[in-house]
Order: sequence, then C-alpha cells, then structure tokens
Amino acid sequence: MSDFESTAVYQRRVEAAADTIQGAWQDQPEILIVLGSGLGPLADAVTKPVILPYTSIPGFPQATVPGHEGRLILGWLQEQPVAVMQGRFHYYEGHSMQDVVFPIRVMQQLDIKKLILTNAAGGTRDDMHPGDLMVITDHIGMLSESPLRGPNLDRFGTRFPDQTHVYDPAWIERAQMCAKRLGIKLHSGVYAWSRGPQFETPAEVRLLKMLGADALGMSTVPEAITASHGGMKVLGLSCITNYAAGLSDQSLSHEEVMIVGKQAAEQTIQLLSAILDRSPEG
Ligand code: HPA
Repeated sequence: MSDFESTAVYQRRVEAAADTIQGAWQDQPEILIVLGSGLGPLADAVTKPVILPYTSIPGFPQATVPGHEGRLILGWLQEQPVAVMQGRFHYYEGHSMQDVVFPIRVMQQLDIKKLILTNAAGGTRDDMHPGDLMVITDHIGMLSESPLRGPNLDRFGTRFPDQTHVYDPAWIERAQMCAKRLGIKLHSGVYAWSRGPQFETPAEVRLLKMLGADALGMSTVPEAITASHGGMKVLGLSCITNYAAGLSDQSLSHEEVMIVGKQAAEQTIQLLSAILDRSPEG
C-alpha cells in the first residue's frame, strides 16, 4: 500500500487552490516569498495587500506553529507583484511531505518562477552571531526524506532533477552586492535541514558542522528541492537566531528564536527590498 495521495487527486487539489488564489487578485504574482519564524512583520511591507487566510484556500494545509500566522498575502513589494506566505508548513507538525511542499506546487501551477525562502537557523560558525543574516549557497538535505519521493509529478519536472544550483548563483551575487551597499553583514553558507521538532544535540551539531553545515534549521530544504524540481529560481536567506546547541552556554528555545527573528526582521526587509528593487539605481 502506498502512503501517497494519488497524483491525480493531488493535482486536482493543487488546481483548486491555484484557482482560488487566481480569482482573488486581478494581478499575477511573479515571486513567492515564504516568511520564517519571527519574520512575519515582513508582510506589513506589502502594499495594496489582498489577504487570504489559509482556511479560505481549498486544500491548503493549516499552520500550527506560534509565530506562523497562516495567511497568504498578495500585493506589491518594490513595485513587483508578490505572494507572501506568512506561515509555512513543517514536517515536524505532522504534515506529509506532499503537504509541506503543497504551496510550492500551487505557485508552480500559477506559473510563478521565483521563490524567496527565509528561515530562522542556528549558526555553527565562530563568526556567526545571533541577529546575523546568511544567504544560502547550498544545502544538506540527504539525511531526511525527499519531498520528491513517490510517483514523479511529470507535469512539473523530471524524475531525477539535477541539484547543482538549487540556489540561483545570480541571485546570491545580487544579495551580496545589495548587502554590501546597505552596510548589512551577510554571511554565505550551507544550510542543513533536520526534521525536528527537537533542536539538535551538541553531538549532532558537531557532526553537521564536520559535514560542512554553517546553519541548521527545520524548514526550507523540502521547499527548495520542490522549487528546483519545478524549474523555479530560488533565493534562501537565514536569520541566525542562536548559536547551535553546545556552542554557547545557553540552552535553546523557540521563544528566543522568535525574539531574535523579530529583531532581525527590519534588516531582512531592507535587504529583501533592495534585492527586489528593479529601478536603475536599485
Ligand atoms: N536548530 C534547528 N532549527 C533552528 C535552530 C537551531 O539551532 N534555530 C532556529 N531554528
């Protein structure tokens, strides 16, 4: 017995959600922005917003994590039509992988070609401090389940997708250039995904660090894999909210992650706005 929703049923669910979103806004979003823990305030920067609670979108999973509101905001950022997810779906909430990446498939159905993923993460490097930002250059996802497991959705992409450039090199370069111009410290590095919900143990942090992980988190990778499978251009931004377990005297808590995430939200908005700005001086 397969534990998968059949391709046909899943596809119909994707289409129903896409139809509802399309019917709610006369414009066509070009970029999906997914907000991580504490970064909810970023949604306030969207102008002329049309707000769709996830409960109003048929087939959409529901967010359960404090700090993840559960609504889709359609509107404008730097004069670009965007869709912003205030609240994402994590594997640890009990969602199936098909549900974790459901919004990405819906956006692909809507022909959105660009995705910006933000998250809160623990830093493993000595030069990374709470409140710092990191642009994701690559990830480690092989230790957990793939969102592409099960029958391939041929409509979106190939069975064995290349993963050489999951994160768009030109977008990484632009992020670094914008950060430099704004005087924002922006690290670049590798993000490793664990399923959670428990934070890593110090031994796991040492292992992941040895494997080349600079930042650790519980999201982003399934969405990035699914986005790259469907041919989307991806930018990943991590807000380093804490030293990873065992690297400082402090124990970790979701509350701390939220507080530091909120503190860094303003800088993240500034950086994202500059990245999105298409004006000649932008
Ligand atoms: N580990 C995993 N996920 C996280 C962390 C962490 O240290 N901080 C914020 N999200």
